[in-house]
Amino acid sequence: MPEPGKTKFQIDLRRYLREEEEDRDLTRLICEIADASKYIINAIRTGDLGVAGTSNLYGEEQLALDVLSDRIIRKRLVNSGVVANMLSEETPDIIPVDPHGKYSVAFDPLDGSSLVDVNLAVGTIVSIYEGGDLLQPGRNQVAALYILYGPRTTLVLSTGSGVHEFAMNQLMEYTLVNENLRMAPNCTIYSPGGQRNKYTPGTEKFVRYMEDKGAKLRYSGGLVPDINQVLLKGKGIFLYPHLEGAPDGKLRLLFELNPMAYLIEQAGGAASNGRQRILDLMPEGIDQRAPVFIGCQEDVARAEAFIREEESLSSAFAG
Ligand code: AHG
Ligand code: MN
Ligand code: MN
Repeated sequence: MPEPGKTKFQIDLRRYLREEEEDRDLTRLICEIADASKYIINAIRTGDLGVAGTSNLYGEEQLALDVLSDRIIRKRLVNSGVVANMLSEETPDIIPVDPHGKYSVAFDPLDGSSLVDVNLAVGTIVSIYEGGDLLQPGRNQVAALYILYGPRTTLVLSTGSGVHEFAMNQLMEYTLVNENLRMAPNCTIYSPGGQRNKYTPGTEKFVRYMEDKGAKLRYSGGLVPDINQVLLKGKGIFLYPHLEGAPDGKLRLLFELNPMAYLIEQAGGAASNGRQRILDLMPEGIDQRAPVFIGCQEDVARAEAFIREEESLSSAFAG
């Protein structure tokens, strides 16, 4: 029950999780990550925009901010005392922490870091499994969350019973602002990633379908704000499809797609690689990428149908 004089919407993250009778270790883990984000915000606001002189496992130059954010989260995960293994988009290997830890965590410490220098929104993305295994299908996640560093800082979380949004207040505490976010069956906005001249015919047909039905294009180039828009408006689809020359698209399954797919499904939406459900993909490696169509169910199904049709047409021609 909320304290007298306090509506449920002023309760903070820790209290919310306690009232929901979430596992204590999981609560602790989520709150450590929430605490880490305060330091990441500070780094974004005041930190060095230069390069760190190192590269990640994708050969991408690491910005000082990526490295710093990675360190901040890692330290918190180690301190939590509940983490078995952790894996960051910025490091090449799974890092063992504590064999008795109850949870394992895959995370992208600062997604969209190249947008900081043009002052666009960025985020932290986190995927949580029970036990030590990080190379399993995303449907086995027990929780996922992202933190969006925009004009406001928000944290969007699911522990398997709906998706909830918390916003940081002036005391830097996250308080509940939206409970049980829901997606409509079809979209009025679309958010198309990748270069359109490299789209395959199925994706091209889908994008034309969105244009013809009068959907509005809303794309920032940052996965966290783009997905947040789809989720909060409840009527959108984000895609970063397979491209000519990049059959797996760009986004990473473990750090970006699985946690986002878990959140969107929890809100009644869907996430597909164009052929099958993202959360059913068995990761073959920590650096696995996949195409993604994520958002309102009917439009994700339509994208799959167009891709299937165009692929069977082209294989009929090839045959
Ligand atoms: P990261 O900064 O972690 O490497 O990922 C950025 C991602 C994501 O935020 C966005 O959806 C996508 O890259 C944009 O890709 P393009 O650079 O191809 O536009
Ligand atoms: Mn990323
Ligand atoms: Mn990143």
